[in-house]
Amino acid sequence: MNEIIELIFATNNEHKVQEIKSVLGNNIKIKSLKEAGIEIDIPEPHHTLQANASEKSNTIHQLTNKNCFSEDTGLEVEILNGEPGVKSARYAENEKQFKNNTEKLLFNLKDKTNRTAQFRTVISLILNNKEYFFVGVCKGNIIDEQRGNSGFGYDPVFMPNGSNKTFAEMPMEEKNLYSHRKKAMQQLIEFLSQFGKKSS
Ligand code: IMP
Repeated sequence: MNEIIELIFATNNEHKVQEIKSVLGNNIKIKSLKEAGIEIDIPEPHHTLQANASEKSNTIHQLTNKNCFSEDTGLEVEILNGEPGVKSARYAENEKQFKNNTEKLLFNLKDKTNRTAQFRTVISLILNNKEYFFVGVCKGNIIDEQRGNSGFGYDPVFMPNGSNKTFAEMPMEEKNLYSHRKKAMQQLIEFLSQFGKKSS
């Protein structure tokens, strides 16, 4: 891939923007919605990560007619039948007894011995008016307390397989060794590099 590909990243989540920018090479330039001057809160109304990711990238594509991508991520906990899953961002919504989603998750896993979980990221890329999907999974466990201050969301309770730290105890570069988002992004980068070769 010789030419530089510019993509709008359809998210308002600064953490995701930083994580994704940290894994890019020189040939891909990413603009967040903020950097592209787009102020919009894109809904996530669907029952699958793929449909929500698609909704976000298609909304931005219709607005700008530019190449763009989005991602939707869910934390899937085995003993909770895959919950919070696609509802990860809104898990504790309307439940006043929990300060946040992570508290509700720890409450629901109280006394449970099976703590197996995975993060799953689905990326929707719209390139030259065609849509492509990429998936990244990180398997691990939910510990029974919150540890660490880095990252965001469920990071303080998620320990990836192969580490004894939670994501929130890791600097971003270390999280990237395991991360679902990084794995999905690597596929996108590989796809763009092949795409660049075919079209040159
Ligand atoms: P969404 O993809 O923006 O809908 O995120 C879904 C939910 O999962 C949000 O509550 C995020 O905080 C959480 N989430 C997404 N990615 C991560 C991650 O890498 N670590 C921890 N939580 C995450």
